[in-house]
Amino acid sequence: MAGAEARPVASVSDVGKTYGSGAAAVRALNHVSLEIRAGELVLLEGPSGSGKTTLLSVLGCILKPTSGSVKIAGREVSGLPEHRLPEVRLRHVGFVFQFFNLLPALTARENVQIPLDLKGVAAGEAKRKAAELLKAMGLGSKLDALPGALSGGEKQRVAIVRAIASEPDLLLADEPTAALDSSSGRGVMELLRECRRQQGRAVVAVSHDPRLREFADRIVRLEDGRLA
Ligand SMILES: Nc1ncnc2c1ncn2[C@@H]1O[C@H](COP(=O)(O)OP(=O)(O)O)[C@@H](O)[C@H]1O
Ligand SMILES: [Mg+2]
Repeated sequence: MAGAEARPVASVSDVGKTYGSGAAAVRALNHVSLEIRAGELVLLEGPSGSGKTTLLSVLGCILKPTSGSVKIAGREVSGLPEHRLPEVRLRHVGFVFQFFNLLPALTARENVQIPLDLKGVAAGEAKRKAAELLKAMGLGSKLDALPGALSGGEKQRVAIVRAIASEPDLLLADEPTAALDSSSGRGVMELLRECRRQQGRAVVAVSHDPRLREFADRIVRLEDGRLA
């Protein structure tokens, strides 16, 4: 469990994000400040359109905020030019999405190898590590399965293993259980909770489902782009 003294993995300070401009402008985030500490699983709640995906995208350096500051692993990233962000993401952030986003023509193991290949890990080592990670997460019998042959819960667990393969400090999951039945959803949350303990990682998961609250170390709520 994260103590107040735990290392901050990511933080946003007074962040604002506006999409578009003029009459069409949408203020998606308004003066949002949040610190994510090593070892914690933060559940991000809020109604549809409240800015959850936008906040996750800013935390994960997919989206630059309009104002405010973003720090990942102690490094200020909001001032970095757009072309530097992929490198920050690759080193520090893993993503999990509602619809898994596995590559359908690749096996479970090959999907997990992708971030390792991108990081420049040698092919043989990447293959070995992908298998080891999948086995550790209870997916040892699925190494050579294509995503189409996996259940929804298994797909999401493979997607989580892929997201942590490059050992990110921060794992971000946008409604990871929304496409799953409640028992697979719980399995996915258990795996996410497992992930937060490893290597001082932190997990931020968006969910609408109040039944998942028990998995959280902390719950934060967005309403109209502001932390409630
Ligand atoms: N790419 C975009 N362009 C314009 N408006 C957007 C875009 N993405 C999100 N929005 C708007 O920003 C607000 C917050 O959206 P979002 O972060 O997706 O909320 P949530 O994930 O909580 O449903 C909403 O009003 C949404 O319509
Ligand atoms: Mg969303």
